[in-house]
Amino acid sequence: MPNRVVVVGSINADLTVHVHRHPQPGETLPGSGGAISAGGKGANQAVAAALQGAEVALIGAVGRDPYATPATERLRTSGVDCSGVAEVDGPTGLAVITVSRDGENSIIVVPGANATVTGEYVERHAAALREAAVILLQGEIPAEGFARAVAEAGPRTRVLINLAPVVPVPREALLRADPLMANEHEAGLILAQLGHPLDSDAPEDLARALITEGFASVVLTLGKRGALVAHGEEITSIPTPAITPVDTTGAGDAFAGAFAARLAEGASLIDAARHAARVGAYAATGHGAQASYPGLEDELPR
Ligand code: RIB
Repeated sequence: MPNRVVVVGSINADLTVHVHRHPQPGETLPGSGGAISAGGKGANQAVAAALQGAEVALIGAVGRDPYATPATERLRTSGVDCSGVAEVDGPTGLAVITVSRDGENSIIVVPGANATVTGEYVERHAAALREAAVILLQGEIPAEGFARAVAEAGPRTRVLINLAPVVPVPREALLRADPLMANEHEAGLILAQLGHPLDSDAPEDLARALITEGFASVVLTLGKRGALVAHGEEITSIPTPAITPVDTTGAGDAFAGAFAARLAEGASLIDAARHAARVGAYAATGHGAQASYPGLEDELPR
């Protein structure tokens, strides 16, 4: 498939509660919600890309438990090829998410079945990886599975890495990212992981430092300040629409998935990022992760 996006990543059941504000350590607060919905950074990005028109396959795993069905429901309804999703003994990945009144979230992830996406498992899907236009990776599977996916990329495959959360991964695999997608916090941690922590947290400095480390291109996401696309010496600022956030859970994944979809169609980094910023903003105006993602028929904010 010439324009196929292959995501190698996590699938979670998201257990979300809403609170007035996030609790302090040792504090108990009243909340509401408690519903289970589809999440996981890998699955979120796969769904976002598919809803933006890409042909998408996901390589991952769920457990043999009642959470597997709600965790994969949107993958199936959005047309993602799930033939690379294994069902393994043990629990499906679980994310416990707290969303405050201003839409900000905090998340604890229990890997469950995602821990079985090992190098050996990923290698079984080598043919799909070799033929992909784009491979999209995050940080919620074992590092050896991550590195194997990069190693299996074909000569014409573009490797997109959104190392969220930032976990230790082999340097050589990480530097294959073109682009590396990160927020400011993640960018700082990645520079530290590469052995060159930066004193400055200015976005341009972070982007330039990552390019200096050897990334061919970098997309630095800046929340309501948009994004920066860095390619060689050039840095381009990408605006984002002004919206009132309801729930930012998975908005970054919506950005990454939409970005991958556009790159697979042959768009430039800048055009893909402009579109992705609008998709990410749309996602922050709805509740949950995948449930808030737009399809091609939805009107995006400007
Ligand atoms: O990025 C948001 C996602 O992070 C949630 O869906 C949760 O499952 C965690 O993986």
